[in-house]
Amino acid sequence: MITFSKVSETTEFIQNQKDNGKSIGFVPTMGALHKGHLELMKKAKSENDLLVVSIFVNPIQFNNPEDLEKYPRDLTKDKKLLEEINCDVLFAPSVKEMYPDEVIKKYDFGSLETAMEGASRPGHFNGVGVVVSKLFNICIPHKAYFGEKDFQQLAIIKKLVEMESFPIEIIACPTVREDDGLAMSSRNERLTKTERASAPFIYEVLNMALDNRELLCPNILRQYVLNQFSDRPEFNVEYFELADDVNLQPVTAWNESIGTIGFIAVNLGKVRLIDNIRII
Ligand code: PAF
Repeated sequence: MITFSKVSETTEFIQNQKDNGKSIGFVPTMGALHKGHLELMKKAKSENDLLVVSIFVNPIQFNNPEDLEKYPRDLTKDKKLLEEINCDVLFAPSVKEMYPDEVIKKYDFGSLETAMEGASRPGHFNGVGVVVSKLFNICIPHKAYFGEKDFQQLAIIKKLVEMESFPIEIIACPTVREDDGLAMSSRNERLTKTERASAPFIYEVLNMALDNRELLCPNILRQYVLNQFSDRPEFNVEYFELADDVNLQPVTAWNESIGTIGFIAVNLGKVRLIDNIRII
């Protein structure tokens, strides 16, 4: 694996590979790699000649300084995992390398960014849009791979590709879960033992929502989900929303022709977790 920290060297190397007819699969990450990331990478590796991974904890997508400070970082361990899956190129820049100047770019993702994560984390999706756009320009991939756990982020990135006319195919990959159902996330590392034991309840409740969807209309189902947490004080639910899978607009009546997802964000102790489930 070749590791780069400089933008120009990374682009030059990858462009050279492309000129030699190689296809490039790209997985952007913030490190603290887990099995979910590795699944994206294995898929990218199997579908392309070269696997390029970036590790960059992007400060401008964190609206909470404590969250940024506590975000897990272990580049040595990450590099070992990348070597094991035969990653070809790692791009791991510094903040100064990525942002030599103040960031002034403002994206307008319309209604995609106003609900759920956008409402709960002001500025988050602009930060994601700015960094992913830069990473796409630096790593110039043919295909880029993202997990469906961050479903709203995936919708934003598809929109970004359309807005910026990036010649890149976005590949959505299913959420990878622990055996007990907890969606894999770098943030899980920060759960205490007791919180980790409680955490699978989130996916249990999402499945209860799915099981009850034929009995309850969307508004009642929303309330039903929130009620499940009423005698679980360790959870602080930020939102549970039922929204369509393209525009992410709230669903008010079931319609078999409208793909519908149940989205949840909860705080468990000091850790914020998100998950989702396909309802239709
Ligand atoms: O999903 C993530 O890890 C990040 O939001 C991403 C896409 C790498 C941008 O920083």
